[in-house]
Amino acid sequence: MAQTGREHWATRFGFIMAAAGSAVGLGNIWRFPYLTGANGGGAFIVIYIGCVVLVGLSIMIAEFAVGRRTQLAAVGAYKSQSRKWTFAGVLGVLSAFFIMGFYPVVGGWAMAYIVKSFTGLLSAPDAIGDAFGAFIGDPLQPIIWMLVYMAIHIVIVGRGVSKGIELAGKILMPLLYVLLIIVAVKGFTFPGSGKGLSYLFVPDWSAVTGKTFLAALGQAFFSLSLGMGCMITYGSYINKRERLPGNALIVVSMDTSVALLAGVALFPALFAFGMKPAAGPGLVFVVVPKLFAHMGGIGVFFSAIFFISLFIAALTSSVSLLEVCVAYLMDEKKWNRKTATNATILVMVVLCILSSLSLGTISGVKLFGVGFFDFFDILTDKIFLAIGGMLLAIFVGWFNKKEDLKDELTNGGTVQFKLFELWYAVVKYVIPILIGLVAFFGIASIEQRSLMLFGLFIIAALAAVSKKL
Ligand code: PHE
Repeated sequence: MAQTGREHWATRFGFIMAAAGSAVGLGNIWRFPYLTGANGGGAFIVIYIGCVVLVGLSIMIAEFAVGRRTQLAAVGAYKSQSRKWTFAGVLGVLSAFFIMGFYPVVGGWAMAYIVKSFTGLLSAPDAIGDAFGAFIGDPLQPIIWMLVYMAIHIVIVGRGVSKGIELAGKILMPLLYVLLIIVAVKGFTFPGSGKGLSYLFVPDWSAVTGKTFLAALGQAFFSLSLGMGCMITYGSYINKRERLPGNALIVVSMDTSVALLAGVALFPALFAFGMKPAAGPGLVFVVVPKLFAHMGGIGVFFSAIFFISLFIAALTSSVSLLEVCVAYLMDEKKWNRKTATNATILVMVVLCILSSLSLGTISGVKLFGVGFFDFFDILTDKIFLAIGGMLLAIFVGWFNKKEDLKDELTNGGTVQFKLFELWYAVVKYVIPILIGLVAFFGIASIEQRSLMLFGLFIIAALAAVSKKL
């Protein structure tokens, strides 16, 4: 396929950083630790890693291959095969849109905690937990921070993603890594921290149910930015000379190592502080300030840098989510970039306001039994992304020619992909069946069953009108 006319990543490093920038985000540092805590620790981690290796890596290779082969973003890539498939791309856009209905709220929390690090939060370590609850339940403060967070997107997307954000990513991503190591080392110094490690690495299988598998699978998709077309789009910018499987392996390894490191950094301290593993969404916002509170002045500084890095990690991810929506409106609906960006952000802001308020002021308002924040979170990560990944596997395994895939993954036969047959069988047979089973048993054992069924209904409805999308 011709490469003319489409921009490509200038360097391999640039591409890896962009893909890793999308993957490494709140999912790794904010969400992974608290999900691990809520799902029983070690057993969840084992299942999570299983999902990453078996499903995540193969899907990432598949998404890169589809993107580079078609040279199109998600919706176009599906549509170029048949309009019956358009809905699968649109489902991805909808996922991005709904994720952006709560992600920026948490991004705003991270920003707020940069400032709070300096303004006395750390001086009363025992009050840090309550302070978090009061902060996110406040009707105004978190919304203002979310607006600031979103405003930055307008500036970045307006100026072009590459310069500022890439540079910040190149410096702050490694810094984040170093900081997590510092947090981990510091965490080990507290008495009682050993319990945290055994909680993480000694699996207790008794707590595992269908729900655990669904949570692990959903988190794998969320954390790796899969199942919603993001990596198809990024794949379309990859140079024809790059080896796709090798690059996918690098991105997956980076993402998983940051998640595990976040777990190792947070759990020993958490146990040492006598907190509950199931501390929920506040985990990182409570453990990190508490940990640094014991270090005096330098602790304030460390805490601030930690939240700056978290904020940048979130930003590089949410920019990619926004871009999926904007690219769709531009490519398929012929909107210009400015209108598409502003309109999308405006609607996202409304969703985020509802999400933020649902943690306090309007906590009584429920959709399918949950508040807005959880509604957007559960709908995307427990259903849309997993089904999106399953559709992609079916699309690639059953509706693309095997020779074409082989050609794409071996760069026209110039490089080897020794595991091609294995990869192909996994994508064609194992993943669709596995996701089907996990979805079935997960939905059967989860409390929010009506919400799940609602999600499936939306997907079916999209499929029915696919040709009109
Ligand atoms: N992977 C990102 C994170 O872990 C979130 C994300 C999901 C980004 C899907 C893009 C697409 O924070």
